[in-house]
Amino acid sequence: MSEPKPSVTDAGVATLRPPPRHVAIIMDGNGRWAKARGLPRAMGHKEGVEALRRAVEASRDLGLSHLSVYAFSTENWNRPQQEIDALFDLLRLFVKRDLARLHRDGVRIRIIGSRDGLNEDILGLIDEAMNLTKANTKLTLNIAFNYGGRGEIVAAVKQIVEAVQAGRLNPTEIDEAMISRMIWTADSPDPDLVIRTSGELRLSNFLLWSGAYAELMFMDLWWPDFNKESLEKAIDAFRRRDRRFGGLGS
Ligand code: IPE
Ligand code: IPE
Ligand code: MG
Repeated sequence: MSEPKPSVTDAGVATLRPPPRHVAIIMDGNGRWAKARGLPRAMGHKEGVEALRRAVEASRDLGLSHLSVYAFSTENWNRPQQEIDALFDLLRLFVKRDLARLHRDGVRIRIIGSRDGLNEDILGLIDEAMNLTKANTKLTLNIAFNYGGRGEIVAAVKQIVEAVQAGRLNPTEIDEAMISRMIWTADSPDPDLVIRTSGELRLSNFLLWSGAYAELMFMDLWWPDFNKESLEKAIDAFRRRDRRFGGLGS
């Protein structure tokens, strides 16, 4: 991956932008990691959880305030039932095994996505994890589970229409800030950087609203191979990018 050199000021001094506050990751490539080793896909997902643990720890170490990870998309219902079951079991296991430690480490867990189609036991675990950790401030970990970016926007639109119909909202008041307050990641800043592993070059319905101006980084490794060094590399490359937001940049 070739990245631009650090921007150079008039004085000839290389400048790095501040590190990202919010990094979002499309954790992709578990199946191919397993296939390359002659293992069942479920083993790839299991190793993927190890990589997630490393990513959370690295994010804390590197001083990020928000990390969002894509764990199960609304389109992933199209997979064989056996694989869906394996992914759901891993979420259960992750919450059961890691919740106490994450809480101790000051991680606030938010599980974002649609509650539709999720079993009562999963919903219970999600609520437990979010309630227990809600006051933590070291790192916010958004786990996108049963998440779809279009569905997130539709849910916001429905809330707005209901408020208008109930007479609580005048349509002239609807603006971008209002939608930002209604999406599932409302209490996180917009992601600065979206990383996708596995080499695929697409967003697959991730953070369509909040990621409108995120820097995109596509990394040529399977998610189970992701480690602190991978995150450092991505952050370093991010800091050399010129973010313009439609203006003329630096
Ligand atoms: C990402 O790995 C995990 C989920 C989508 C749940 P994949 O399962 O998509 O792995 P590949 O892309 O088939 O290798
Ligand atoms: C995106 O990966 C979803 C997650 C990482 C959870 P997919 O593997 O499902 O995406 P596509 O099918 O390659 O677009
Ligand atoms: Mg994939």
